[in-house]
Amino acid sequence: MRTIVAGNWKMHKDRTEALDLVMALVAEAETLPAGVEMVIAPPYPFLAMAAERVRGTRITVAAQNCHEAKQGAYTGEVSVAMLGSIGVGACIVGHSERRQYFNETDAAVGRKVKALLEGGLMPIYCCGELLEERQGEQHFAVVERQITEALGALDASALARVVVAYEPVWAIGTGLTASPEQAQEMHAFIRKTLRGLAGDVADAIPILYGGSCKPDNAAGLFSQQDINGGLIGGAALEAASFLELVRIGGRK
Ligand code: PGA
Repeated sequence: MRTIVAGNWKMHKDRTEALDLVMALVAEAETLPAGVEMVIAPPYPFLAMAAERVRGTRITVAAQNCHEAKQGAYTGEVSVAMLGSIGVGACIVGHSERRQYFNETDAAVGRKVKALLEGGLMPIYCCGELLEERQGEQHFAVVERQITEALGALDASALARVVVAYEPVWAIGTGLTASPEQAQEMHAFIRKTLRGLAGDVADAIPILYGGSCKPDNAAGLFSQQDINGGLIGGAALEAASFLELVRIGGRK
């Protein structure tokens, strides 16, 4: 099973800061455990620079969003082909902040996943429930709907190229983390849901945990059977903490 540690920089850093962080990660990349894949998702303006700097290293550069269309009159949007042409290898889609602030629906995110697969990029598909949904014991139903509505139309060979990230919205940027047991319970449920869509292929789909994942709680999370690494926000903005998370991922 693959282990992936991905850093989502969100809307942080200027050019100099972004370059400094990329270079600090590149400098250490070869010292990191071989079994773990390292992904960084800087903001759009820094993707080309990041992709150039990581070329020949084991770091993959991801975008944080893309448009589903190949091209066209979509002012302000960025296509999968554009991302691919500058060396971007992956893309986060369906992050809860995009769902919340930009009204992205499961269906729309599903179309982005399809566009990414057609363009040869690795989709990192985010799902996860709101606090009130967990309190109302709706969390399994919500995540099942997110998975089936966005990914249900893919055949098994396409689904095998998707990475899923479970990010309970109440844990994102709040300092509240799902306990390893809570996260494992949901990851096992996600894998079961994926198995219903794709059969045995589901056993090889990486399912990352995200939501206030930090060096001091990652070991407990990453050691769970169905947790195959992390999608990291705040702790990915500093080289030291992100590298530590990659090292912890490497122990899996
Ligand atoms: P956080 O963000 O680690 O800052 O909670 C995770 C994410 O939103 O991907």
